[in-house]
Order: sequence, then C-alpha cells, then structure tokens
Amino acid sequence: MAKKTPTPHIGAEYGEIASTVIMAGDPLRAKMMAERYLENPVLFNQVRGMLGYTGLYKGQRVSVMGHGMGIPSIGIYSYELYHFYDVKTIIRVGSAGSMHPDLHVGDLVMAMGACTNSTYAAQYHLPGTFAPIADFDLLRSAVLKAEELGYRYKVGNVYSTDTFYDDTPDTAQWQKMGVLAIEMEAPALYMNAARAGARALCMCTISDSLVTGEETTAEERQNNFTQMMDVAFGII
Ligand code: HPA
Repeated sequence: MAKKTPTPHIGAEYGEIASTVIMAGDPLRAKMMAERYLENPVLFNQVRGMLGYTGLYKGQRVSVMGHGMGIPSIGIYSYELYHFYDVKTIIRVGSAGSMHPDLHVGDLVMAMGACTNSTYAAQYHLPGTFAPIADFDLLRSAVLKAEELGYRYKVGNVYSTDTFYDDTPDTAQWQKMGVLAIEMEAPALYMNAARAGARALCMCTISDSLVTGEETTAEERQNNFTQMMDVAFGII
C-alpha cells in the first residue's frame, strides 16, 4: 500500500527505495557505495544533501543512503525508511573508536547490543530499560562473511553517545562493563527496527582508539571501509 511519500526528509516516491538499505553517516560514502557496487544506480534523494541511490547488486535490488551524525539524525531517516517506504532491513556501515585493548584501527566491530546515554527510548514509556540489539540473522551472516573474507572483527556491545566532544568523558565506566567501542547511532536504529518489526545491524570499522591513541590515515580509512562494504554487500 502506498504510504505518504515523499516524506519531510526523503524526496523519493514510494517504491523507489529497495527493501534493503545500506547506510553510512557521510552521504558521500553512499555515493561512493553506489558508484562502486551498484549497477544502474538511480538517485532517489538529495534533500539536505543526504544522498540515496537504488540499483542492482549481483541482480538484487538494493539502496544505499547517508544517515548523518548522531541518534536524532539516524532516528529520523531510519524511521521514515521503515514506516513510509516499507524498508525491511537496514545495515549501518560506520566508524567507531575502540574502547578495548584488543580492538585495533581497521578492525571490524559488529554491534550485538548498543548501550547509550541518549534518552531515545523514553518515547516508548517502557516500565524498565530496553536492550537495543542487532537482528540475529544479520549479525550471524556478517560474522560468517567476515570469517570467510579473513577480516579481523569482534562482536559485542558498543556505547553510543550523544556527544562527540564531551565535557566529562565517561568511557572508563563502560569499559569496565566490557563495552568494545564508541559510536553515535546504533541504538536509535535498533529501537526503530524493533518498533517497526524490521531488521537492523550496525557494524563499524575502528577509526581510532581511546585505549592506545592510534588513529587512521585517510588511505587506511578508505581501505578499511572497503572491507566493511564487502561484508555488508556480501550478506544482502
Ligand atoms: N566517539 C564517537 N564516535 C566515534 C568516535 C568517538 O570517539 N570515533 C569514531 N566514531
């Protein structure tokens, strides 16, 4: 059934977006994914420069799109994709800072769960604390694909913060709980997926380490991102 589209933030008509969407924070990453992986990519959104494309990957229709930075931004885009465009699966390919001594720059982290200091869950009026988790089948597929391709990865909790520049950094407490990495989007994506009865997975490549102070060069970042895209496109 056609929904109310275009939406306030996505200029596509119903049907222009595939049921699986791979999303990156930076819209130029979405453009790069379209150019590198999609046959006949068609641009479906330019509202706010948040580029989105639909095309074919190995004969399968798939979309790629930017989601911006932070929980409110991915919250808006993923909500509209699930509820107005009937998207069933969103895979975020992002970057994260390592909070674990064994997780190094270039490694992949699959967010099995997402801890947060955001109040995003308050809207659901739950009588307790919701545990935002990845879709198990997507997570399992991503792990198997990373194994097959020989990429280094870890699976576990991430900490998704509302502040990149925090006046009172609180990562030590999360590290004590075994949290692997810091990023800024996973819980909103997971909660929107849960509420919509849809699927989501967030995976990130480690771009820097809060433990060792390592950072990535632009060239390394590009190569690492390519590995992660191989995993994402490999499981759709
Ligand atoms: N904080 C939040 N998100 C990030 C970081 C960080 O230190 N590094 C990469 N993504």
